[in-house]
Amino acid sequence: MNNFLQYNPTKLYFGRGQIEQISNELKKGLKVLIIYGGGSIKRNGVYNDVMDKLKEVDAEIHELSGVEPNPRLKTVRKGVKLCKQEGIDFLLAVGGGSVIDCTKAIAAGAVYDGDVWDLITQKAPIERALPIGTVLTLAATGSEMNDVSVITNWETNDKLGWGSPHVYPTFSILNPEYTFTVPEDQTVYGIVDSMSHALEHYFHRTFNTPMIDGFIESLLRTAIETGPKLMKNLQSFEYRETMMYLSTTAFNGTLMNGTDGGDWATHRIEHAVSAIYDIPHGGGLAILFPNWLEHVLEEDPSRVKQLAVNVFGVDPAGKEDKQVALEGAAALRKFWTSLGAPSTFKDYDITDQDFDSIVEKTFIKPGVGTYKELNSENVKEILKSSL
Ligand code: NZQ
Ligand code: ZN
Repeated sequence: MNNFLQYNPTKLYFGRGQIEQISNELKKGLKVLIIYGGGSIKRNGVYNDVMDKLKEVDAEIHELSGVEPNPRLKTVRKGVKLCKQEGIDFLLAVGGGSVIDCTKAIAAGAVYDGDVWDLITQKAPIERALPIGTVLTLAATGSEMNDVSVITNWETNDKLGWGSPHVYPTFSILNPEYTFTVPEDQTVYGIVDSMSHALEHYFHRTFNTPMIDGFIESLLRTAIETGPKLMKNLQSFEYRETMMYLSTTAFNGTLMNGTDGGDWATHRIEHAVSAIYDIPHGGGLAILFPNWLEHVLEEDPSRVKQLAVNVFGVDPAGKEDKQVALEGAAALRKFWTSLGAPSTFKDYDITDQDFDSIVEKTFIKPGVGTYKELNSENVKEILKSSL
């Protein structure tokens, strides 16, 4: 194992009724900006629950609605302006990863004199941020308990991941009931995204990590067992709670303990694809990930083989390593497709016409991949195999 620091300051309140904790977490009389998306929280009652609690702490309530899936810089800028104008003390994100990511960017931008894009592009250091809380309504990204955010500049078609310890939520409220209304397609994308996070952690090259490897394998087996049951019963508390805890754990730092952090090349490629096509993140990953596996196993099948055997139950007896690994990649694709996820770019009418720009945007920051460092030709091959 490598030396590591385990640090995560987010307080997680998990389970039914945890919305009550807002009254304990917020001091009386704060100016609170509540940030949400296109209105799902108004239709499913979460908005009213949050408002009731904010009134209990005599908050001066301001609102920013309309955060887009794949949140955009223009909405971040709107939020920053609002915070500066109104002297906001606290930001409360109510929604999925997009709302939380947008909130993190607003939090950093609100206490910075220049343009918030400088912070996202790391041209300027992030020295502080307004405090954030979240009420999660979609299990997928892990944003509720990490310091990462992904923002799209639609003017330049750049979708950038960035992070800072200053934007960890101070608390997050995770009531699985709040995810009952997540539609079928978004539920599938959430399963794919959280499994992808676990998989990307798994592809590290650090020696002696049996504990973390076993942890990741267990998480993946749980998703494989629970995912299909959840798809048949979207209102099941039991399956929703399993997936909610799973998706938070898949990207809150735990799975990096003692490793080199894993290989996030597929995320880099997916962000480049959705920067141009604005497709759902989980949908893009479902297409790309099995093709990335098939790409890396050509050079070194060992890790994909381990995944195939320990997670997908592929029987290795009498087979070459490469064959076992190929069966593992096929099993992953088959599992996601069985849930209803897309498996080729055709599902989103994506052709090869923008491949050059996708490759260019994948390398917007240098260094794509660590388990296997990819060059532009490699990325193009993965894109071609996704057609
Ligand atoms: O806009 P609203 O009305 O909230 O509707 C949303 C949206 O249309 C809807 N939804 C959310 N909760 C719901 C609900 N509908 C009914 N009932 C509910 N309870 O679902 C749609 C998608 O929401 P979104 O927040 O976009 O989904 P997700 O949580 O998958 O977030 C995706 C974004 O997160 C980024 C992605 O790139 C993408 O931009 N990521 C963020 C990461 C992070 N911060 O750590 C890591 C990830 O790898 C990812 O890149
Ligand atoms: Zn993701």
